[in-house]
Amino acid sequence: MEDKELKKLVIFYSLEGNTKFIAEGIKDMTGAESLELKVEKDISPKGFMRYVWGGSQVIMGKKPELVSIDKNPEDYDVLFIGTPIWAGGYVPAINTFLHRVQIKGKKIGLFCCHAGGGSGKAFSMFKEKLKENTIIGEIEFKDPLKNDKTVAEKQLKEWIDSIMKV
Ligand SMILES: Cc1cc2nc3c(=O)[nH]c(=O)nc-3n(C[C@H](O)[C@H](O)[C@H](O)COP(=O)(O)O)c2cc1C
Repeated sequence: MEDKELKKLVIFYSLEGNTKFIAEGIKDMTGAESLELKVEKDISPKGFMRYVWGGSQVIMGKKPELVSIDKNPEDYDVLFIGTPIWAGGYVPAINTFLHRVQIKGKKIGLFCCHAGGGSGKAFSMFKEKLKENTIIGEIEFKDPLKNDKTVAEKQLKEWIDSIMKV
């Protein structure tokens, strides 16, 4: 892929900062613009209830209202889409976004952060919703803010270099 003229956008949601950390790395490494999805009435990032509330939203397939989106994925060639793993899938904010916005003919890199349970069915859920696009790669991280950030940054750099070369 000839990188220089491609317009890139990182689209992500992050409740506790891990996915945001990776999104910012992608932004710095590729010169991408970014679109952070925010939910109108979001859950608290603290306390055990977030697991119960967030997990049940995923299981029920909720599509919470998002704070207005100021970037159109149509205007970009390459999209990086990132999510924390909730109940083994992507978060409700991503669910809303993928229902609301038509994404076609893009090159897409997928990334996620989890607490050790792995990416679950998130990547297959993305691929199902993004069928009319080319998935150029996927990568997962275990809570990068709690673990070695340098290792995560190195893995991210290698991933970016490999997918942007294709
Ligand atoms: C509601 C909720 C559900 C979660 N479910 C899972 C899960 O199924 N598997 C897992 O490994 N981690 C799970 N986690 C942990 C997060 O995926 C993980 O900490 C991630 O790095 C958080 O990303 P963030 O800091 O960008 O919000 C869950 C966290 C929350 C708040």
